[in-house]
Amino acid sequence: MSHRKVPENIKKRLKKHHQEHLIAFWEQLDAGQQRDLLGQIEQLDFLKTDVSVEDFIKKASSAASTPADFTAAPFYSAAPANKAELFKYTQAVELGEELISSGKVAAFVVAGGQGTRLGLDGPKGNFPISPVKNKTLFQIFAETILAVSKKYNATCPWYIMTSPLNHNETVKIFEKNNYYGLSPEDIFIFQQGTFANFSFDGKILLADKDKISVSPDGHGGSLRALHRSGALKDMKKRGVKFVSYFQIDNPLVKIFDPLFIGLHALDNSQISSKAVIKAGPGEKVGSFCIADGKVTVIEYSDLPTKLACRRNPDDSLVFGLASIAIHIINLDFIEQLNASGFSELKTSLLSKLHLESSSHSASVSLPLHKAVKKIPHLDRHDNFIVPSEPNGIKLESFVFDALPLASKSIILQTLRGEEFGPVKNASGFDSAQIAKEMMICRSASWLESAGVAIPRKPDGSIDCVIEIAPSFALDRDDVKTKLNQIPKIAAGDKVYLS
Ligand code: UD1
Repeated sequence: MSHRKVPENIKKRLKKHHQEHLIAFWEQLDAGQQRDLLGQIEQLDFLKTDVSVEDFIKKASSAASTPADFTAAPFYSAAPANKAELFKYTQAVELGEELISSGKVAAFVVAGGQGTRLGLDGPKGNFPISPVKNKTLFQIFAETILAVSKKYNATCPWYIMTSPLNHNETVKIFEKNNYYGLSPEDIFIFQQGTFANFSFDGKILLADKDKISVSPDGHGGSLRALHRSGALKDMKKRGVKFVSYFQIDNPLVKIFDPLFIGLHALDNSQISSKAVIKAGPGEKVGSFCIADGKVTVIEYSDLPTKLACRRNPDDSLVFGLASIAIHIINLDFIEQLNASGFSELKTSLLSKLHLESSSHSASVSLPLHKAVKKIPHLDRHDNFIVPSEPNGIKLESFVFDALPLASKSIILQTLRGEEFGPVKNASGFDSAQIAKEMMICRSASWLESAGVAIPRKPDGSIDCVIEIAPSFALDRDDVKTKLNQIPKIAAGDKVYLS
């Protein structure tokens, strides 16, 4: 046993913030464990401020942070609404294609989440989902990026954010699969940061005698992690200007969409978003709104039911524009957020929690959202507690909270069946089963619009299983150029087009 003393400054800091229990087992730790624990304590940003941790927990935003006044957000519709828009969309596609071809666009997936809800032990990206070949989410995205690189004769680097929960395993999966045919130097896998977990009375929980209990800091942490990991630097070196952000759970995502990229660039937007029309008022998605003149996402849990159900005279939902967590973000904008002290919580933390300014000089940070969870931990009597009921608080920041910080932010509507089939639940809504069906429906629709006959049952449902590999077609138009490679499809067939 080592008898090294706890440094006085740390002791004082812990006392001031009522967190002395973090060193309760100090005397039982060896020198290495002591060093390790000190390092973890020093990482706790808020312990460096004058703000008490209890306040930090109490004031972290929740439903109370919903803006008082907001209206529906304007958006570009999925198809141009008039001649002027048709002209703009055509221009945008050309510009988008040019930007992809010249290597100005990088793919970026947030993949810090686990597949637990889907019954998968490991990174969610390793969940098998494609209808014929059972390809995993990682493989579908990798093959898409490869196909885009070929189509545009460009290098399309891929940045993958993991969390401490799944980083090593993710790296191993990529190694084992030979990076799915991509070049390893064009794949950059890095970890997001963490936040400490708290008890309801504002005490930081211990995972072990020498380990603070932490959780991934939310996808909002990606903006900081891109900087800290060196990913931004790598992008700059390559000449990347735009980051195409998406979530690991959506196999239908169109990672490189010339129209979206082009509209974003034409409008000088700093962070743009894709949206679909909500399936109903209760759908668990964020809603786009305008608050204080800025595009803002209000999470489903924060949107009062009365507002969620409010309808326009034509019966559409007033707040019916759903965030599907697909964004184009300017590299410059991410740099600007980091340079301005983003999330460093330097001065009074609480005054910074609510995005007080987007000016260059101000310190800006994303608001924290809290989630009440069951958090296993070591109590102060050395008992390891596995709670059966929620017992603590996890903090997260959300990437869409960066939208109101932008000088300009646009929204493009897309069609659910084309681009949004998230895999979130084991069964029911947003399940793997539904995502698979959506993949088949999209393939059938692409084929039918190219004139290929698809067998259907009397009720109109599709009577075959189809999978289109990204190498075969990235969109509806690509299919039209491959008609001679498509076999006749009969009822009950399983067809894989590659
Ligand atoms: C999310 C959005 C919601 C949107 C919906 C679309 C939030 C809070 N809500 O809901 O507005 O309409 O997707 O499908 O995000 N992740 C990390 N690190 C983390 C936390 C999450 O990488 O620390 C990643 C996950 O791997 C996943 C994504 O972020 O790719 C979404 O996280 P999740 O918690 O599943 O969000 P949802 O509740 O599904």
